[in-house]
Amino acid sequence: MTSDSLAVSRTAEIARLKSHHQQHKWSLRDLFASDSQRAQRFSTEAAGIYLDYSKNHLRDDTLQLLLDCADKLDLRGQITALLDGANINNTEHRPALHTALRFQGQPQTEHEQAVADCRIQMQKFAEKVHSGNWRGFSGEPIRHIVNIGIGGSDLGPRMVVEALRPWQREDIAVHFVANIDGADLSDTIAELPAENTLFIVASKSFSTLETRQNALSARQWILDAGCREDQLAQHFVAVSSNIVAAQDFGIAPENIFPMWNWVGGRYSLWSAIGLPIVLACGYETYEELLSGAHAMDEHFASAPLEENLPALLALIHFWYRQCWGAGSQVVLPYAQRLAKFPAWLQQLDMESLGKSVARDGHQLQYPSGSVIWGTEGSNGQHSFHQLLHQGTDLIPADFIAVKEPTSELREQHQWLLACCISQSQALLRGKSLHEARQELEKQGHTHREAHALAPHKVVPGNRPSNTLIMERLDPYHLGSLLALYEHKVFVHGCLLGINPFDQWGVELGKLLGAQIHEAIGGEAPADWDGSTRQLLALLIN
Ligand code: F6P
Repeated sequence: MTSDSLAVSRTAEIARLKSHHQQHKWSLRDLFASDSQRAQRFSTEAAGIYLDYSKNHLRDDTLQLLLDCADKLDLRGQITALLDGANINNTEHRPALHTALRFQGQPQTEHEQAVADCRIQMQKFAEKVHSGNWRGFSGEPIRHIVNIGIGGSDLGPRMVVEALRPWQREDIAVHFVANIDGADLSDTIAELPAENTLFIVASKSFSTLETRQNALSARQWILDAGCREDQLAQHFVAVSSNIVAAQDFGIAPENIFPMWNWVGGRYSLWSAIGLPIVLACGYETYEELLSGAHAMDEHFASAPLEENLPALLALIHFWYRQCWGAGSQVVLPYAQRLAKFPAWLQQLDMESLGKSVARDGHQLQYPSGSVIWGTEGSNGQHSFHQLLHQGTDLIPADFIAVKEPTSELREQHQWLLACCISQSQALLRGKSLHEARQELEKQGHTHREAHALAPHKVVPGNRPSNTLIMERLDPYHLGSLLALYEHKVFVHGCLLGINPFDQWGVELGKLLGAQIHEAIGGEAPADWDGSTRQLLALLIN
């Protein structure tokens, strides 16, 4: 199908969904009351992840409309194109082959062979570090790893290492530095012995400002601690597709782990960008993570769309975004160790879907990506859940629960799960004016007082959510969860008709940042806006 005909179909499909939305008003309470099997019928499971999407504004006919929409937009064809390595990233003329990073078995393609070679390189390197055979400038074994990277070269491995805390080795500590704010690096290295510390400079482009500056400062720190220039190779390795720039920085060619232009930064934790995971948790753990992601890939590739977890999540998101005016979506992992998951998902979703033009460059006539936000449960309940329950906006929520306790404190785990379940229940159920009045009167308030107070106690309810259940927070299930969201974002991009694999929007800020830096100590150009000139004068010059 041509992009023009797809655009026409998309407009028609969105119109059809909108008219369905306007014609049929229902309440979630009623949907459950009228169907005792609703929870089971609107639930599905794959690759160790159970999805209950029954608390959504979906009837069978709604779901059918969404699935028809996916068919009309050739979703199946686009999934095949992605997995077959077509040039799906049309503005950069390349495929997006993050799924090749987690292939299992024998390599079958050129890409998989490159990945297999890289895995061996990572494994050997980790063995050398773990065995104490990789030594620093004083002859001491390495005991601290500092990953210097930002965005996709930071968020994924940082989140995974934290999530897999029980798998972390005791003989090595892995740290992460991302921010250009020098406090990030200096606070991190303040307590570290330079002679036992190895830096990974993780940057696909090897030109990212933050990473370069932090790497230069780290280099100076090691030199100041007594390392000779010719010993620097013992303290720096790199992950990059820009071999020349990494070598120019002083990294020995044999210590450069490859990245490829067919892997997007935000999809790269499965590549050598995942080196901190291997070092912190061991190579087998990393393999398990890959196998969980691969299991989700297989499900994504083969399951019919009505049972396909990534497709369902994306269709539901699309439904709220296009027809319910939902400008944001909240993600609430009820697991302390998944605290960094929302930040990882923010980059994945917002950098992919924050676009205003279609694949062919035409201005979109409908909303695209929404704001993704959230924090670990139950903490959010005591800060922003008030707005979820009583605010004026409809904010669909994804709850993520882990069935097995993640600590010895089993009793607390039961409370954690009770909190998680009760929040989606409260969003669905709400509290009517009548219920609020009755409750107040029961508490001893006069009729008049109850009348005055009740509106403040009304909780509208009828607010949608998904609940995803992971059996355990282990490498396999984590891999599966992350791949699920990667594919969800891809499907959402297909439905929106945009290219989710470029991120040109961030370039302007980078360019202007460099120009402002250049203006420090001098005169700001007269054609800059007054506020920018004033800020420069007040803050720097
Ligand atoms: O500026 C955005 C971005 O390019 C992200 O897409 C990427 O993950 C991040 O910067 C880091 O890029 P690099 O790995 O090239 O340093």
